[in-house]
Amino acid sequence: MTRRKAERTDAAPAATQRSELSIRPVRRGDLDAVIAIDTQVTGLEKRDYWRSVYRRYGEAAAAPGAQFLVAEAAGEVVGFVIGEVRDWEFGAPPCGWVFAIDVRPDARLAGIGTRLLESILSGFRRAGVRKVRTMLASDNTLILSFFRSQGMMAGRFIPLEMDLGE
Ligand SMILES: CC(C)(COP(=O)(O)OP(=O)(O)OC[C@H]1O[C@@H](n2cnc3c(N)ncnc32)[C@H](O)[C@@H]1OP(=O)(O)O)[C@@H](O)C(=O)NCCC(=O)NCCS
Repeated sequence: MTRRKAERTDAAPAATQRSELSIRPVRRGDLDAVIAIDTQVTGLEKRDYWRSVYRRYGEAAAAPGAQFLVAEAAGEVVGFVIGEVRDWEFGAPPCGWVFAIDVRPDARLAGIGTRLLESILSGFRRAGVRKVRTMLASDNTLILSFFRSQGMMAGRFIPLEMDLGE
């Protein structure tokens, strides 16, 4: 048995099985759970950052095309996805961008990430775009495996960066 199969057997409790899952827009009351998942995944608590993300992507007044969705199972937030439609940035016709996707570690490998991505992609389609992009750290093999499994491949844009110094 591979390590992955072992993870799959132990990982997702019954409460997070696909049939009991709902994907819905974030509410203010979800923020603590979102912050807890992000803190668990990244090791860094960023309350102010998440409040500003909520204002920008989660509130009714969020920019058109912005989406901040959560996955809820048995009354608990077990994952989230955030993205928006960006027009003509980098010279590209309007497309959807996925900025963040996270599933609580004890709820992974049960299809929740897939459901979250499906939902945000449906939103992008409704907004009229036919292309989605994302960016990921080249050493994050987990998120790379996930996006590849969903059909995403290297695109025609490449990231460039440099240190700015003092
Ligand atoms: C990536 C992530 C969202 C996947 O969520 P998930 O609910 O476990 O994903 P799913 O169960 O829908 O998995 C879908 C596919 O992704 C791939 N995948 C998911 N976890 C994997 C793993 N540990 N190893 C290899 N492939 C994996 C598989 O191909 C899987 O399909 P399969 O189950 O049919 O084999 C989740 O692992 C996570 O939150 N990771 C941390 C994310 C992160 O680093 N975020 C910061 C940058 S935005």
